[in-house]
Amino acid sequence: MADQAGDPLFHSHDPVFNRKELLHVGHVPDEDRIVGRDDEIESVAAEVGAITRGDPPNNVMIYGKTGTGKSLISRHVATRAQNAARTNEIDCGVLYVDCSEANTETRATRQLALSLKEQTGYQGSIPVRGVGTMEYYQHIWEILEQFFDSIIVILDEIDKLDNSNILMQLSRAREAQKTDAYIGVIGISNKVKYRETLDERIDSSFGHRELFFHPYDASQLREIMRNREDAFQPDVLEDGTIELCAALAAKKHGDARKAIEILKEAGELARRTGSETVSEDHIQQAQEVAEINRIEELTSGATVHAKLALYALASRIITGDRETYKTREVYERYVGICELVATDPITENGLYRQLKEQAFLGVIESEKTGGGRSQRSYLLHRLVTDPKHIVKAVRRDSSLEDLPTYDRLSGTESPSRAHDADLSSFS
Ligand SMILES: Nc1ncnc2c1ncn2[C@@H]1O[C@H](COP(=O)(O)OP(=O)(O)OP(=O)(O)O)[C@@H](O)[C@H]1O
Ligand SMILES: [Mg+2]
Repeated sequence: MADQAGDPLFHSHDPVFNRKELLHVGHVPDEDRIVGRDDEIESVAAEVGAITRGDPPNNVMIYGKTGTGKSLISRHVATRAQNAARTNEIDCGVLYVDCSEANTETRATRQLALSLKEQTGYQGSIPVRGVGTMEYYQHIWEILEQFFDSIIVILDEIDKLDNSNILMQLSRAREAQKTDAYIGVIGISNKVKYRETLDERIDSSFGHRELFFHPYDASQLREIMRNREDAFQPDVLEDGTIELCAALAAKKHGDARKAIEILKEAGELARRTGSETVSEDHIQQAQEVAEINRIEELTSGATVHAKLALYALASRIITGDRETYKTREVYERYVGICELVATDPITENGLYRQLKEQAFLGVIESEKTGGGRSQRSYLLHRLVTDPKHIVKAVRRDSSLEDLPTYDRLSGTESPSRAHDADLSSFS
């Protein structure tokens, strides 16, 4: 048995991290750790703020790329509005629904009803199964009637909802005399295209403002990370590491989540290798791991053939002297790989479609070239990331971990076919 000092197998002191939770996904930082979003905070507050004075709020839609602080700022403003309302003796509730999980009207209304019950002393019993949307709405109206003057409902990832009826119900509730409470909706989406579907499916009842959050630049990312430096033990982060991490993340996507993840991963790497400090080298390595993770995520729904096509393109780039290759050239390498792994190849046209899909996901860029009077047009494909990251990400698919190394692949295509007429034009 270990004595009072604890089992030496488990260190009581983490040499690298001090408050690691500051770097966890989903951690909501305090107000003084939020950086570079003052204007956005004010804009959201201006839309929902009337609630704090007992007046009707505006609905608002927030758009922006991933990791730009949409969820954070919405929760932050809603909580502050709730507190400000309280000082004016107004009972304002805050409800948060992640529509990527609660992706139907029934699931979303069930979650609203259940969290309202949780926040109050509501006595009604809310069944988890076997009832429809209408019954959940009944509970929602009843709880609002009994306990609240107003509520702010955050519908995060709202584009994942299979229909937008809930927006109509919430915005018409007073008019339809379901409740006297004011309801302010904050909808969040990283798909600007959602606007178009919204316009079609929803009439003027969900009148709303639109806000756009922009990606962070390097200096904002630097500040965001500086504000969480105490996640690490003192003097563990070497000079220049945060700057490098911010620069890398700003260059890639301006995504604060990714920047924080890279910093955390760099700390994990340092700890695993027994290093007392986190160096620029750790940041570089962590960035690579993050990039491979990102590619793996992006391609997780892709077919084996799409992955082999990416692998083929990556291996051509690594072993060749160009950055771009025609569909035909990728196809030849792909057929070679299929032979080596004893898989039946799909047709060239099929592969072309798979490549287009990958372009849509942002893993490759495909550009149309040629197409003059006497020429057929064809597509040239390039990778948007280091080909070695693609190779590693594809190999993570357990069915593909035995892929031959890319240096064994050059020259697998037959020279005669390589000079065939260009058939890569299917567009
Ligand atoms: N201005 C900021 N100051 C401090 N931390 C921030 C800021 N913006 C974002 N973060 C942190 O970055 C991470 C991502 O932010 P958030 O979840 O709000 O992004 P999002 O825009 O909702 O992204 P997604 O579209 O992927 O859901 C969170 O951990 C958040 O705490
Ligand atoms: Mg979010």
